[in-house]
Amino acid sequence: MAPGLTETSVLDCQRLREDFPILSHVRPDGKRLIYLDNAATTQRPRQVIDALVDVYASRYANVHRGIHWLSDQTTDLYEEAREKIRAFINASAREEVIFTHGTTEGINLVARSWGEANLKAGDEILLTELEHHSNIVPWQQAAAKSGAQIRWLPITGDGRLDLDVLEQMLSPQTRLMAVAAVSNVLGTINPLFEIISRVHRVGGIVLVDAAQSAPHLPLDVQSLGADFVAFSGHKMMGPTGVGVLWGRRDLLDAIPPFLGGGSMIRRVRKEGFEPAELPAKLEAGTPPIVPAIGLGAAIDYLNRIGLDTVLAQEQMLTRRAHEILSEVGGVRLLGPGLEHKSGIVSFLVEGIHAHDVAQLLDRHGVAVRAGHHCAMPLHQRLGVAATTRASFYFYNTPNEVEALGEALQDAKHLFRRG
Ligand SMILES: Cc1ncc(COP(=O)(O)O)c(C=O)c1O
Repeated sequence: MAPGLTETSVLDCQRLREDFPILSHVRPDGKRLIYLDNAATTQRPRQVIDALVDVYASRYANVHRGIHWLSDQTTDLYEEAREKIRAFINASAREEVIFTHGTTEGINLVARSWGEANLKAGDEILLTELEHHSNIVPWQQAAAKSGAQIRWLPITGDGRLDLDVLEQMLSPQTRLMAVAAVSNVLGTINPLFEIISRVHRVGGIVLVDAAQSAPHLPLDVQSLGADFVAFSGHKMMGPTGVGVLWGRRDLLDAIPPFLGGGSMIRRVRKEGFEPAELPAKLEAGTPPIVPAIGLGAAIDYLNRIGLDTVLAQEQMLTRRAHEILSEVGGVRLLGPGLEHKSGIVSFLVEGIHAHDVAQLLDRHGVAVRAGHHCAMPLHQRLGVAATTRASFYFYNTPNEVEALGEALQDAKHLFRRG
């Protein structure tokens, strides 16, 4: 069945889908693409692609360095993108918005620069059992260097963070908690306000991994009260190779530069260097200029739709997916109930390995992901090696969710026969 609008869509999907060239792509085998792998990366609308082409075609030079007209043009576009992001997350100043290459780099920046300046033996770093490896490994590295200890906040049976245990784990030794806003496997929307206020009460700070929330849920860093927030452009229709680290001004001012090189210095002498002011201090080398401008265009696009609408559409699709997958039989849905969940649905099919499920779905044109999704400790906790994950964005339709259900039925029959 061709993907299309039904009366249950929150959005005029069909019209919006026309902005995304790839969504009308037909595969060489004649199958229409049903893209349900948005937690891995999203697709881009023509408006973002055009913005990239426009810079490369007529406004491209290096930024901040030029004393020529073209460089000024590019610098203006790059800084306009920073301002769009500042407004999108309601940061109080543009200096708090650091362009990185993605969530992974943002977290590594904090773990190295903040970690080396602040962590020592006896300190505790709190992580949760549902973190992505990008929010685990940098802290394991920081702990190994500093002698700090990592402690793990467990999840409940239905895949939510156990806040009762958090209360027992917090102490004056808690220096930092690093937590995902939304789990990339279970789709759990974590209660950040609650977590942040509890960690602050014992004097710790909080880094929020917003890779799976910034594209879908409104983010206001001032009212959230977090200390650092990291996210990636490619999961919100921007290009790959660009991300954002937001940090509280006083914390960013206090940390040493992450990388050394051009652009991040005020002065270099044989004896040493003096770092530049923010944000340059934390943006060494030539930054991801064009991807950042493309991310600005993606934010314009998201603003036109409105994140409340985006979330409503995704929750409608998730509800439909729960209904349809429950009817298939032999499918175990993972994660919490709909009221605590975003547009991510991970599941297990009785008797079929997660990778086989994904491959069988692919035969129907349905693109999902299977594996540990860079969350091995979570899979260990769930007692499974791999899961299959369908993840939605606002351009997905109820018909595509139905196609997932039909493909899954077929996969089951095929597997039984084969
Ligand atoms: C929750 C979460 N954190 C971090 C990352 C890493 O993002 P990136 O690979 O863009 O740096 C991902 C990517 O899937 C993610 O889902």
